[in-house]
Amino acid sequence: MKKTVTVILAAAMILACLALASCGQTEEKVLNVYTNAGFPPYEYLDSNGKVVGVDIDVVNYIGEKLGYKVIISDIDFDAILNEVSKDKFAVGAAGMSKKPDRDEVALASDVYATSVQYIIAPTGTFEGEQVALADAIAYVAASGIKSIGVQAGTTGAYLVDDAVKDTEAKAIEYSNAIIASQDIGTTVAAVVIDKLPAEAISKDKDNLQCWPLDAEMESYVLYFNKDNAELVKQVNDILKQMIKDGLIDQYTVKHSS
Ligand code: ARG
Repeated sequence: MKKTVTVILAAAMILACLALASCGQTEEKVLNVYTNAGFPPYEYLDSNGKVVGVDIDVVNYIGEKLGYKVIISDIDFDAILNEVSKDKFAVGAAGMSKKPDRDEVALASDVYATSVQYIIAPTGTFEGEQVALADAIAYVAASGIKSIGVQAGTTGAYLVDDAVKDTEAKAIEYSNAIIASQDIGTTVAAVVIDKLPAEAISKDKDNLQCWPLDAEMESYVLYFNKDNAELVKQVNDILKQMIKDGLIDQYTVKHSS
């Protein structure tokens, strides 16, 4: 009799454990998205202070397709890959250009957009459609201000750091290009940032204009945790379809207007 009770109890416990475990499995999957919201149209704050943009639409779409709850964190751009490397279900979605040193710490998705570095300066500063990087730096060096603004940790910052070597110009790092641009004419003579953010920042400002630099084309990717190749594969399938359907273009137009 005692034995029967023990067996029944044990069986009940096993059933309870199984029930709990399956409950655990149906728990919502979470995708932790890291971004830096001073980079319109890819990520910026709307009038309510909410992080929105092309990248946010992209990760929300992916999250919905794959059944993840998407949690957005707005952090310093140069801290994103460190966060991604600590969490298997993390992704950097921040108009991040594919770069070999970044590929060493994170796993890149397929390319979803391309860009090139632009310079923002007072209206009429440069003539012509495109500005040679060397001419841009020469202008900064010859200006009374002698400094050029960049966003810390970006490809634009690396490009400028390299170009100002052995010149009288120096780079000043900002947490984002919007803040840097507010200092044009006082602390910095110009700002270097990717094409669409440069256009967005100078768009409604009579005193600012932007020009493409003669720099290499850059490719935007989502950067995932190194241990989640499976997720990257699923994401690439979705990205492919999104590009084919024109969704990314649609989001870009929507957030650029
Ligand atoms: N494409 C540049 C890079 O990868 C700049 C990206 C800045 N992104 C941002 N959300 N602030 O370095």
